[in-house]
Amino acid sequence: MCAFQIAIDGPAGAGKSTIAKKIAEKLSFIYIDTGAMYRALTYEVLDRKIAIDNIEEIIHIAKNCNIAFKNKDVFVNNNKVNDDIRSRRVNENVSYIAKIPEVRNILVDRQKKIASNNNIVMDGRDIGTKVLPNANLKIFLTASVEERALRRYNEIKCNNSNVDIESIRSEIVKRDAMDESREHSPLKKAINAVTIDTTGLTIKEVVENILILVRKQCINI
Ligand code: C5P
Repeated sequence: MCAFQIAIDGPAGAGKSTIAKKIAEKLSFIYIDTGAMYRALTYEVLDRKIAIDNIEEIIHIAKNCNIAFKNKDVFVNNNKVNDDIRSRRVNENVSYIAKIPEVRNILVDRQKKIASNNNIVMDGRDIGTKVLPNANLKIFLTASVEERALRRYNEIKCNNSNVDIESIRSEIVKRDAMDESREHSPLKKAINAVTIDTTGLTIKEVVENILILVRKQCINI
């Protein structure tokens, strides 16, 4: 198998991490969820009660905090934060932190380092455009906002009966708008990315479609 990098970008709730994880498993590649890195930093900032507009302090934390993936767990400074980084507070604040250019530079450098010389599947917002501009395969995964909100709702309601789909929908719309309109590395499809609209598709169907594209690319190398 050739050394291979797969970049998966797309809006919130499009199923990127579910799909990316499965692709990585099937191909025995490393999987990196870059959204979890921005989330982990946001969690750390909120946990330390740093104001979201204290840019200098946030950059300082970004430089010094250790974000690590071990097996399926995410750690910030050796604390396991798997569930904490998916909280509503983190959802509401992560895009403010992710738009700080210095924060992006710090995390993008770390992402590039992890990806160098590895077969990797990486998902996020700027993977095809910025982090892995030479990726062998770039996918832009999307779905209607109604479907994305419904998927999130179904995920969350197993653990929390107090959720309503309308607030999930508006959180997704707000986060997408911020991610798409920011000045540095906005969410956008890379020129050579393949768009897959997952509305109405099963996870299995999306994974199979991507695996077909991987095989095609390997033949072309
Ligand atoms: O992918 P996920 O929804 O977990 O990402 C959380 C947030 O992190 C996004 O809404 C975005 O603001 C930020 N992010 C980013 N660049 C990435 C990955 C995530 O700006 N590569």
